[in-house]
Amino acid sequence: MDSNGIVLLKLFVVGLLVNAWMMRAASGAETLEATTLRQRRVCNESRLQWEVEVCGEHFKRDMALIHPQYWCNLTYFINEYHVFTYCTETKSHYVDCYWPNPLVEGYIIRIHKLFFSNCSMEQVVWVDPPDDTLIVLILIPIFLTLAMIAMVVWCSKRSDILA
Ligand SMILES: *[C@@H]1O[C@H](CO)[C@@H](O)[C@H](O)[C@H]1NC(C)=O
Ligand SMILES: *[C@@H]1O[C@H](CO)[C@@H](O)[C@H](O)[C@H]1NC(C)=O
Ligand SMILES: *[C@@H]1O[C@H](CO)[C@@H](O)[C@H](O)[C@H]1NC(C)=O
Repeated sequence: MDSNGIVLLKLFVVGLLVNAWMMRAASGAETLEATTLRQRRVCNESRLQWEVEVCGEHFKRDMALIHPQYWCNLTYFINEYHVFTYCTETKSHYVDCYWPNPLVEGYIIRIHKLFFSNCSMEQVVWVDPPDDTLIVLILIPIFLTLAMIAMVVWCSKRSDILA
């Protein structure tokens, strides 16, 4: 992994975490208001476990179509990997759980062990996606975060004016 790749990957992870944190803060605020209206639905972990395993089975099926020789090269399975992470995200929301969450992270680590345990650090996968893809991966959470901030600012200004 060249140092650029590492920096980009770190940015991506940080962006994702910041975004998750912002969403959590925002939905926390919403929840406070909502609980007075209706009982908040809680994350059903046993359902979540089952749902992410379904995502995992699809991913395993897709990976089986790719020759194991290419399992350390993200270029060959970036789409499948995206579908998998996206699947865990949608399913988490579907069963009223936050994403990312420890259960999903644990499952993703199990999947990584299954497919990427033999990948050496040099060939690690995460270097090779075309830069375009990485940039998009990084920009999405950053953009979402900025949009959230803008929305919060806009809403508070608006309520100032109204008040
Ligand atoms: C969680 O989901 C399972 C399976 O759908 C269900 O049997 C269980 O009652 C649910 N638990 C809660 C607390 O809703
Ligand atoms: C890793 O290597 C071991 C030993 O060569 C092999 O048995 C195993 O199937 C490999 N695992 C993966 C995910 O390629
Ligand atoms: C991954 O696959 C692509 C496309 O075949 C190739 O250009 C690249 O060099 C490969 N990377 C590694 C580390 O094998």
